[in-house]
Amino acid sequence: MSYLGPAPVGDAGREWLWERLYPRNVRGYPASASGVRSTIEPMSADERREELKVLLQEARGCTRCPQLASTRATVVFGAGNADADLMFVGEAPGANEDKQGLPFVGSAGKLLEKLLGEIGLARADVFIANVLKCRPPGNRDPHPTEIEACQDYLWRQIDLIQPLVLCTLGNFSTKLLRGDPTGITRLHGSAEVRVIGPRAVRLYPIYHPAAALYTPSMLDTLRADFARIPGLLAQPAPDQPEPVPEVEPEVVQVAAAEPEVEESVREADQLGLF
Ligand code: URA
Repeated sequence: MSYLGPAPVGDAGREWLWERLYPRNVRGYPASASGVRSTIEPMSADERREELKVLLQEARGCTRCPQLASTRATVVFGAGNADADLMFVGEAPGANEDKQGLPFVGSAGKLLEKLLGEIGLARADVFIANVLKCRPPGNRDPHPTEIEACQDYLWRQIDLIQPLVLCTLGNFSTKLLRGDPTGITRLHGSAEVRVIGPRAVRLYPIYHPAAALYTPSMLDTLRADFARIPGLLAQPAPDQPEPVPEVEPEVVQVAAAEPEVEESVREADQLGLF
């Protein structure tokens, strides 16, 4: 199947993209994507980048959260290297991000960049996204209904970028991507292999940089957690789950009285199906 080519517009376009990103049996990731497997076909970096652009266009017109759609200045889709080994997921855009259309460009973003620099990486080396693509007014916490409505953009971004290390910043992204309410205080600094969508990734929860802005002890912890990232990137990619074979819908036939067939013939017929 080709993943390229012009997408139809409107509902047909959405279905077209959906079919290509989640062919067959992986539609509708649950809040916990662990264990979900797919038969998704491999794509080149260029194909994945093109698909990401299609997804961006879709997100730009999103009105799934009427309040956020009416108060946002821009949809902050995410930015960076579409072929990155390291992907960060924050919470939601703030005022600066909303204005510029880019994630983490305010003071938390400056800190993120500084910490990246300390481990020899630049913004351009990584991909940065958020749980929500639109700014919650007044920087309030994302509502559960908004997370629910927005999450499939994130799943699809992760699926296309295929990072080796997925670094969640703070509670919202950690809870969503782990599908579990355990908080960041317990989890930060320890990586685990998780199956996210169709593939396994090293999930690495750390504190949100905003939490470390004004608390020196938190900054020390965040810096120590950042220092483990190069080691995680140097590890071999985790073993990938076996693709689940495509399941053909069962055709139920109302059989007329069957003639007697020998067992060996039945077996031969069945083997012919595989
Ligand atoms: N905080 C976030 O979680 N995301 C941003 O993009 C900016 C600040």
